[in-house]
Amino acid sequence: MKAIVIDQYGTAEELHETEMEIPEIAADEVLVEVAATSVNPIDWKARLGMLKKMFAWTFPVVLGWDLAGTIVEVGKDVTSFKIGDQVFARPDIDAKGKRGTYAEFAAVKEDKLALKPQEISFEEAAAIPLAGLTAWQVIVDRLKVKKGEKVLIQAGAGGVGIFAIQIAKYLGAYVATTASPRNNKLLRSLGVDEIIDYHTTSIKATLSDYDAVFDTVDQIDEGLSILKPSGRLVTIAGQPTEEQGSRTQSVSSWWLQPNGEELSLLGKLVAQGKVKVIIDSTFALTASGLQAAHKRSESHHAQGKIIIKNTK
Ligand SMILES: NC(=O)c1ccc[n+]([C@@H]2O[C@H](COP(=O)([O-])OP(=O)(O)OC[C@H]3O[C@@H](n4cnc5c(N)ncnc54)[C@H](OP(=O)(O)O)[C@@H]3O)[C@@H](O)[C@H]2O)c1
Repeated sequence: MKAIVIDQYGTAEELHETEMEIPEIAADEVLVEVAATSVNPIDWKARLGMLKKMFAWTFPVVLGWDLAGTIVEVGKDVTSFKIGDQVFARPDIDAKGKRGTYAEFAAVKEDKLALKPQEISFEEAAAIPLAGLTAWQVIVDRLKVKKGEKVLIQAGAGGVGIFAIQIAKYLGAYVATTASPRNNKLLRSLGVDEIIDYHTTSIKATLSDYDAVFDTVDQIDEGLSILKPSGRLVTIAGQPTEEQGSRTQSVSSWWLQPNGEELSLLGKLVAQGKVKVIIDSTFALTASGLQAAHKRSESHHAQGKIIIKNTK
């Protein structure tokens, strides 16, 4: 099969096309023919070698951790999915670095899969798993945002921020976010109550008595400064220090746990139009397509998700 790989850590130019064996699936896995995947900041961080301490990968490495496509093979213990099902997932990160989604086929464990709602395209579905599940797990499971609470979601126009805003609004929260002014129209259309231009204004100067902060930019002290004494902060971009952890507020970091059931719930909200998928740009599943997509993600200014389409 065709795959886009790196043979060493480095710049986006390391991404190149090669032929690889189609992954062999285990009894609890399915093989998916990839119709679309997406690029997340973890992809270029991994490409640069920033995850070396977490994963002892051997080259060539296939990056990519979002997928939408069609099941072409099922393992013998798989009970909830069959050949021909259209699915989407955030697959597990492979210990050897061989099973990313920048490839024509990818293996996924059954418990990480969700059926793709018919109402949404493969490209929209590929936008949801990593960013959407992260937003869901922080807003719903960790911060436990409730109706009427005041929530700050940092970097509202980013892949995670756009999902987090819509989930918090769906739960009935009052939502503030940070963004560049060119994103104001989009953010208002998603229901944001207050937008702070982080280039000119600090959140501390504008917000106070907040119940919850979703930190996606590693500004934990700033987030803590606007929280009530009983407030909660979850970061996906940094590690709280001992001092930050000793405050009256609850402070923790979170790393996404792929979960097919939660993904299915999120997919239903998208199918019902309660959560919108915002696509920044779409590139082809080719070396040049992925190089351009990585550069776009590394700009730190994508508006929503960067999609990779397998045009065959
Ligand atoms: N721990 C986990 O499990 C997990 C999971 C997913 C993501 N993450 C991490 O979370 C972060 C966000 O991910 P993402 O996918 O949302 O990234 P992204 O899509 O690349 O975010 C882009 C957005 O960030 C905004 N931005 C850049 N600098 C900012 C700042 N100083 N203040 C406020 N907004 C700023 C930009 O806004 P403007 O263009 O409006 O300036 C842009 O809309 C990344 O570091 C990623 O690695 C962690």
